[in-house]
Amino acid sequence: MQAIGAVPSRKEVRLVDHEAPQVSADQHVKVRCLDVGICGTDREICTFVYGRPPAGSDYLVLGHESLGQVVEVGAGVRHLKVGDLVVPSVRRPCKHAHCRPCLEDRQDFCSTGDFVERGINQVHGFMTEYFVEDEKYLNYVPPDLREIAVLSEPLTIAEKGLAQAYQVQKRLPWGKGTGKLPGEGLRAVVLGAGPIGILGTMKLILEGFDTYVYSRSQKPNPKADLVESIGAKYFSAKDVSPSQFAERVGNIDVIYEAVGRSDFSFQVLEMLGLNGVFIFTGIPAPEGHIQIPGNVLMRHLVLKNFAVVGTVNADRAAFENAIIDLGKFQTRWPDAIRSLITGRHPVGNFRELLQGKATGIKNVISFA
Ligand code: BGC
Ligand code: ZN
Ligand code: ZN
Repeated sequence: MQAIGAVPSRKEVRLVDHEAPQVSADQHVKVRCLDVGICGTDREICTFVYGRPPAGSDYLVLGHESLGQVVEVGAGVRHLKVGDLVVPSVRRPCKHAHCRPCLEDRQDFCSTGDFVERGINQVHGFMTEYFVEDEKYLNYVPPDLREIAVLSEPLTIAEKGLAQAYQVQKRLPWGKGTGKLPGEGLRAVVLGAGPIGILGTMKLILEGFDTYVYSRSQKPNPKADLVESIGAKYFSAKDVSPSQFAERVGNIDVIYEAVGRSDFSFQVLEMLGLNGVFIFTGIPAPEGHIQIPGNVLMRHLVLKNFAVVGTVNADRAAFENAIIDLGKFQTRWPDAIRSLITGRHPVGNFRELLQGKATGIKNVISFA
């Protein structure tokens, strides 16, 4: 069976002949891969500074943003049947009996660090013709989301991020929920206009936030057009400085970082409003040092009741909500959500996509 693998020992990304997986336990589901999205993490793994093959394998099958179709189910599978569309989650629990998060299916908060991640860390991923997975790690997708459900996993980053923001803001009266939309009367800023930023923008608008996108590229550009077509306001960091930007926006209640750059992020952190929450989702390369105005930032953190939260990976609820929200996006903004997928490619294009220049918004490899 054909698969796209990263071989760290040879610093090589290549097609590998991967053994076809079998249903060998009652809870197993065999899935035919349809679409796999490519993200910054995949590209980073292909520079060989991140990611790890399973023990005993010299390659790691890549791919963690996947949509597939069930082709076979084990005897104990309860909710899925042959023909269903499914999206798998990424992280699998550690094996320590004392890891409470993993015991409670919250491996996104694993407290030992010994979790594994499909397509990233010690377990093969989904850039292959078939994979087998336990039913509990698969999320059902309604058939009308066939074209866009590959965006579920990147949307889970925003789902978990915003869920975290709401948890933190329970400290405030507006965090307790008043029955109307949670974001009503509040301002949110999204840093970056890549797939994670755009999907986060959609989610924030859906929740009723007055939403601003602050990113690098000057207007006009396709990403600015896309976010403005759904009701966000776009500003380029080349046109307005962080303080000018903050002046235009007014009090900023939430900043959702999806840019993966620390210099820009810390500059904008200074602009967070009173009682605001800043959610970090980006993972910059560890090299390099930046200077930050530590005293000013610390004064703001205290005097303005800032909350700063980092978030990685996602739980089952985030996947379920992502799939529900993709349905809402499709109803409300059918063109915008489709235009996020800027390329659907045959398997043969893998090297260009993973190691060539980054282009478009979301590139997808289609196995079907
Ligand atoms: C994935 C997450 C994963 C993280 C760190 C991201 O690209 O979406 O599931 O936890 O990388 O490996
Ligand atoms: Zn990713
Ligand atoms: Zn754990």
